[in-house]
Amino acid sequence: MSWPMIPPAPDTPACGPPVPVDDGWVVTRHAEVVAVLTDPRYVVPVAPGGPPGTLAWLRGTVSRFSAPDRHPGRRAFGVAALRDLDPDELRAAAARLTGETLDRLAGAGQADRVEVMGRLARRVPLEVLAARLGLADPAAAVPAVTAVAAAYHPGAEPAVVARADRAVAALLAMSPPAPAEAAANRIGLLVQAADATAGLIGAAVRYGLAAPVALDTADLLAEVLRLDPPVRATRRVATDAVRLGGRDIGPEAVLLLRFDAANRDPAVHADPDRFRPGRHVAALTFGAGPRGCPGERHALALAAGVVEVLR
Ligand code: HEM
Repeated sequence: MSWPMIPPAPDTPACGPPVPVDDGWVVTRHAEVVAVLTDPRYVVPVAPGGPPGTLAWLRGTVSRFSAPDRHPGRRAFGVAALRDLDPDELRAAAARLTGETLDRLAGAGQADRVEVMGRLARRVPLEVLAARLGLADPAAAVPAVTAVAAAYHPGAEPAVVARADRAVAALLAMSPPAPAEAAANRIGLLVQAADATAGLIGAAVRYGLAAPVALDTADLLAEVLRLDPPVRATRRVATDAVRLGGRDIGPEAVLLLRFDAANRDPAVHADPDRFRPGRHVAALTFGAGPRGCPGERHALALAAGVVEVLR
């Protein structure tokens, strides 16, 4: 069959050498994004922390925003929790919950206009994960995790932060007893999973439901992730003067690494705007290096469970 073209979102920069912007640089080429993610001279912007049990405390305690000396130990909490979860079981559970939801909507005469994002994409993966991570009330965890996710990255409005503070307290209250770092990083798994996995399901529905049924869902998701990455960019700060892609980057410069641009780098992906499942060339959607996503297999399994039922 002839596969469609999926043009980049309008604000996606073209691939090229690093471009200077107000507060730093925008990095778009695949090789340079990988170079930054795997070079210890670039670090993540660190979150300062705050009073125990608040959003600021959570951000200051999860591996995601930790300084290099604290990162490996904190990441290990999340990795250990994920090791206990079987992706095949997650996939089956997500498919089951999706099927039950659709049956319920059909019973109420609403099966022909399912609101996929709210009913399925934003709910099913989190509810399945929260149950397996031991949260006492997985259904109530979903809106709480969503509230935290809305304030997780810097720049949220005070009202959004206040809602997230209450949600962190609620999530801690329904979490199994654990030392603070373990509890925070367990909640961190749910928060990291929330928007990205929902975004993947949404994009798969947008681009994938017309694909032939013989197409493997894993191949479909991989190509959707390349062309419409739910995490479109991440940041690093240079700790030293560095040279990158022929440019001199000063110490403390902030680099915005654009996964969406790098995933269309013609040096890596032939005919890059073409939706062509089965490329088997690694996209950068899950990051790379020591801070790359530890939940990749889990995310793909949860999304596949939902998307398979919809297909
Ligand atoms: C399609 C879904 C997902 C995408 C696209 C995604 C993408 C990413 C990316 C790009 C990073 C690295 C950010 C950086 O280096 O600055 C990351 C980190 C992370 N992700 Fe995911 N993720 C997804 C789902 C999940 C799920 C389901 C989980 C947990 C079950 C998870 C847990 C984490 C954690 C804990 C980190 C921080 C790792 C660290 O601090 O070293 N992610 N994710």
